[in-house]
Amino acid sequence: MSLFRKKSIEHMLAGAQRAGLKKTLGALDLTFLGVGAIIGTGIFVLTGTGAVQAGPALMVSFIFAAIACALAALAYAEFASTIPVAGSIYTYSYATLGELAAWVIGWDLMLEYGLATSAVSVGWSGYLQSLLSGFGISLPMVLTAAPGAVPGQFTLFNLPAFLVMMVITSLLSIGIKESARVNNVMVAIKVAVVLMVIGVGVFHVTPANWHPFMPNGWNGVFGAAAVMFFAFIGFDSVSSAAEEVKNPKRDLPIGIISSLAVCAVLYVAVAAVVTGIVPAAQFANISHPVSYALQVVGQKWVAGFIDLGAVLGMLTVILVMSYGQTRIIYAMSRDGLLPARLSTVHPKFGTPFFTTWLVGLFFGLIGALVPLNVLAELINIGTLAAFSMVSIAVLILRRTHPYLPRAFRCPGVPVVPVLAVAACLFLMLNLKAVTWFAFVVWLAIGLAIYFGYSRWHSKLGRGVE
Ligand code: ALA
Repeated sequence: MSLFRKKSIEHMLAGAQRAGLKKTLGALDLTFLGVGAIIGTGIFVLTGTGAVQAGPALMVSFIFAAIACALAALAYAEFASTIPVAGSIYTYSYATLGELAAWVIGWDLMLEYGLATSAVSVGWSGYLQSLLSGFGISLPMVLTAAPGAVPGQFTLFNLPAFLVMMVITSLLSIGIKESARVNNVMVAIKVAVVLMVIGVGVFHVTPANWHPFMPNGWNGVFGAAAVMFFAFIGFDSVSSAAEEVKNPKRDLPIGIISSLAVCAVLYVAVAAVVTGIVPAAQFANISHPVSYALQVVGQKWVAGFIDLGAVLGMLTVILVMSYGQTRIIYAMSRDGLLPARLSTVHPKFGTPFFTTWLVGLFFGLIGALVPLNVLAELINIGTLAAFSMVSIAVLILRRTHPYLPRAFRCPGVPVVPVLAVAACLFLMLNLKAVTWFAFVVWLAIGLAIYFGYSRWHSKLGRGVE
């Protein structure tokens, strides 16, 4: 039964009051944090892969992925507004599903946030190189990509990807407010660039390019939805900031849902525009598809600005993902499931300084050494699994804690959470077999650590809580 031991929600709320993280964020900060985490490599880089797979029906793929996220987001928002403590759904599940499930979810989230920072640093590196080439600057080939990432080329280390991770890690390690301010400026630039793509691109659309709308049928549409799901990952990181929010009950649900809605509208518009400008099949092997579409119609200056905006904008994705990652590790360590060193707070900066650097270096090296396509699907499967579990958890919490005050209630319970689980599982089934295999290996490692270490060091298990 100890596998199902649960934290008391009342205790967790009290613990959060003592934790000592600074409370500085409001609803608008959170929306910016969300949009900052969401718009990135997904729309700027993976759009090309998605367009080849789904054709112009990529718009439909985005809508499917957005619906799956929106359903899960409603469950997220209920939890986030009820139990505003650091650690996102890891923490929520500790109070509802018990310790083992909480561990599995926390472990999945490391796959999501950690590898996502690596993946986005790779996408960032690609756009930086495209931007530099506009000025006639090129890096030595060997330092531009991970080993084996470019067919027929000898590459060893993605240096720009590694360096960008180090810069972001420095920012995060000195404090959330400084980082959030930087984030707000970057988000404004990123949204402006996306609006520019739509505003300029729409005048170059040839409606004939939208036929055939679904060259690969529904299989193509759903397969692309499972990959493009990556483009929405990040809205959940808003809930990881819970302990640093001034008024979490009101601000968290607003932050999560508004950031998701803004991005869904922008993505569908971008998909419509780029597939209207260039026949979808032409995007094969293009690493900067969004600026490419504008280059094709002779808008060289606009394309240059898109490269620049993508380079600046993707910084915020790495920032917010790294932030979410460190706070989840912080929470797991505070609970005794990971070594105590990982939850020490820096006396001057008020941040988990040591964890921030540890995570930054580790995932910086992964980004430098592993190709993007390998990373993206793996991130999606981990995230979809975690989202399914949070939707189940909302149902459980309604039963176990029916009278707990909820500033935000997920509508349509039980239908909405059940649909969320179904949508997430459906997308998971559209991912490759090799991705499933890697995911199972990851889970097996996680379980080995849980049974070898965490179970015996758990503060809840030792009665320290
Ligand atoms: N949604 C984030 C991106 O597209 C992870 O880069």
